[in-house]
Amino acid sequence: NYIPVIAIDGPSASGKGTVAQRVAAKLGFHYLDSGALYRLVALVAMRSGGDLGGDEKRLSEVARELDVVFKGTEIRLGNEDVADAIRSEACGNAASKIAAYPAVRAALLARQRAFRQLPGLVTDGRDMGSVVFPEAALKIFLTATAEARAERRYKQLMAKGIDANIATLLQDIQERDARDSNRSVAPLQLGADTNLLDTTSLNIAQAVDSVLQQYAETR
Ligand code: C5P
Repeated sequence: NYIPVIAIDGPSASGKGTVAQRVAAKLGFHYLDSGALYRLVALVAMRSGGDLGGDEKRLSEVARELDVVFKGTEIRLGNEDVADAIRSEACGNAASKIAAYPAVRAALLARQRAFRQLPGLVTDGRDMGSVVFPEAALKIFLTATAEARAERRYKQLMAKGIDANIATLLQDIQERDARDSNRSVAPLQLGADTNLLDTTSLNIAQAVDSVLQQYAETR
C-alpha cells in the first residue's frame, strides 16, 4: 500500500510546524515534528547535568533510547509531558548543536521513518525531503525573511506573557540559520525537487492552502 508523505522543511520560526500540523489535520494524515526529537535529545542531555560535553557516542545512545510517545499535543518522555519544556530557546539552541552530529542523526532515522503510516504523513524539519523521506510525494521549503520570523516569534512570546527582545531574537535566528545551513551532514537547503514557499507576506491560512493545492496537483 502506497503511503504518501508531504515533507515540509525550513528554517526555525518559519511557521512550518503550524502549517504542517494544519495540513495533516485537513488531510487526516499523521504528523511528525522531527525537530521535537532533536529537542528531546537536547533536553535529556541538559538535564543529565550539563551538555554531555559534546560526547557524540553518548548523545547518540540518548537518541536511540528516547522513551517518547507523541499523544495529541502531549509529548511524553517517560511519565512526564515535556511539550512545553522542549520549546525553550535554550533547548532549541542545544538541539541545533546536537543535530550536527552524524551519529545522533543516524540514531533518529528509523524512529522518524516509523511515522510513515496510512493514510499518509505530513512532517516538518530540516532534512525531511532530502534525507529521511527522499521519496516524498511533495517537498516544500517553507521560509520567510529572518526579520519576519523574528517578529512572529516576538509576537508569540508576548502573547504568552514572556518578555523578549526583537534584536536578540533576530540574532538567535540568524545564528541558528547559519548553523543549520552550513553543517556538513543534512544541511538545510533548497533541493532541486523542492518547491519554495516564501511566507513573508502570507498568513498561516494562505500558506496551508498553498500546500494543499500543491499536494492536489501531485495526484
Ligand atoms: O524545528 P526546530 O526548531 O524544533 O528544531 C530544532 C533544531 O533541531 C534545529 O535548529 C535543527 O538544528 C535540528 N533539526 C534538524 N533536523 C530536523 C529537525 C530539526 O537538524 N529534521
